[in-house]
Amino acid sequence: MNNRIVTLDEFIIRRQKDFPFASGELTGLLRDIGVAAKIVNREVNKAGLVNILGKAASQDGNASGDQVQKLDLYANDKLIDCLKNSGECCGVASEENEDFIPIPGVGNKTSKYVVVFDPLDGSSNIDVNVSVGTIFGIYRRTSDSKGPCKLEDFLQKGADLVAAGYVLYGTSTLLVYTTGRGVNGFTLDPSIGEFCLSHKDIQIPKSGNYYSVNQGYYLKFDVEMRRYIDQCSDMNLRLRYIGSMVADVHRILFQGGIFVYPNTRKYPQGKLRLVYECNPLSFIVEQAGGKAMTVQLKRILDLEVKHLHQRATIAIGSPEMVDEMKAFVERYSATPTFD
Ligand code: AHG
Ligand code: MN
Ligand code: MN
Repeated sequence: MNNRIVTLDEFIIRRQKDFPFASGELTGLLRDIGVAAKIVNREVNKAGLVNILGKAASQDGNASGDQVQKLDLYANDKLIDCLKNSGECCGVASEENEDFIPIPGVGNKTSKYVVVFDPLDGSSNIDVNVSVGTIFGIYRRTSDSKGPCKLEDFLQKGADLVAAGYVLYGTSTLLVYTTGRGVNGFTLDPSIGEFCLSHKDIQIPKSGNYYSVNQGYYLKFDVEMRRYIDQCSDMNLRLRYIGSMVADVHRILFQGGIFVYPNTRKYPQGKLRLVYECNPLSFIVEQAGGKAMTVQLKRILDLEVKHLHQRATIAIGSPEMVDEMKAFVERYSATPTFD
C-alpha cells in the first residue's frame, strides 16, 4: 500500500459502497459527527486559555457578565447543532439532556437514524488538562418513519447499534469508529484540519498488562470483585485509571487489558450509563475482538434498555481477561450469577 493520506470523509464514502442499498444517510451522519468533533476539539484545546482570558477581562472591567459555558454543555450544543443542520438524523439523546430531542426533517427529507451520545466524557478532567472524549452510537429507528421519532427508538439493545465511535481529545485527537465491519482510527492533523486514517482494522490484544478500576472503592466492592482485583495485583498487572472511561478503554483497546466499574454502595447498579457509554464502547471493543459484560456476567450488548439514563456495571477489554474476571465471579460470588 502506498502512503497516500486517506481522510475520514474519503474513507466513509469508500465504505458506503460496502452497503448495497446505502442511501448515504449514515455516511452523512458520520461526517456531521466528524465536523462536530473538530469544533469541540478546538474548544477543548483552548479550555485553559478561556480561563486566563476570562480573568483578564474581568480585571479590565470588560467582563460582559456572560458565564463561560461549561465545556460539556458546549460540546452538547455543538453536537446537537451539527446533527440538526443536515437533517441526517431524526432525533438525538444525550447524557446531558433529560429527554430525547426529536429533529424535524429538512425539506421533505426524513431520516431513519437516531444518535445517542456522551458529549464530553471525563469532564472532571478538563480543568486539569487531562484527556476527555466524546462517545456516540447510531441506531436505525424502529418507529414509523412518517412521524417524529419516539422513545422506543433510543431504547434498543446495544446489539442493534449500526455504528458507534468515540473521539479522544488527548495528546493528539483521534476518532475511532465502526459500522460493524471492523474498527478504524483517524488522527486529526491540525495543519490541514482533517481526520486522517492512522489505525486500520484495530484488533484488541487477547490479553494485556493493564487493569483499570477505581481502586479507591475497593472496600465497597463485592467480595468476588475484591478477589479479582487482588489477583490483578498479584499478577503484577499495571494499574492505570484516568477517570475518563473513554481514555481508559482506549488504552486497553490498543494495548490490552481490562477496565472494570463494578457496583458500589453509592451506585448499586454501577455508575456508567448504558446508552451513552457502555453500549457504544462495548460495540467497538467487541468489533475489535474484545468482550464486555456486567460484573453479574451478562453481555452488555444484550441488556434490556428500560430508560435513557440507565446505569450498568461493566468489565470490558481483552477477551481472555474478561473471561478470567468471569471465572472469579463464578468461583467467589455469594449469590448465584446469571448465565
Ligand atoms: P462523565 O464525565 O461523562 O460524567 O463521565 C465520567 C465517568 C467516566 O468517564 C469515568 O470512568 C467515571 O465517571 C469515573 O468515575 P469515578 O470518579 O467514580 O471513578
Ligand atoms: Mn461519561
Ligand atoms: Mn459526559
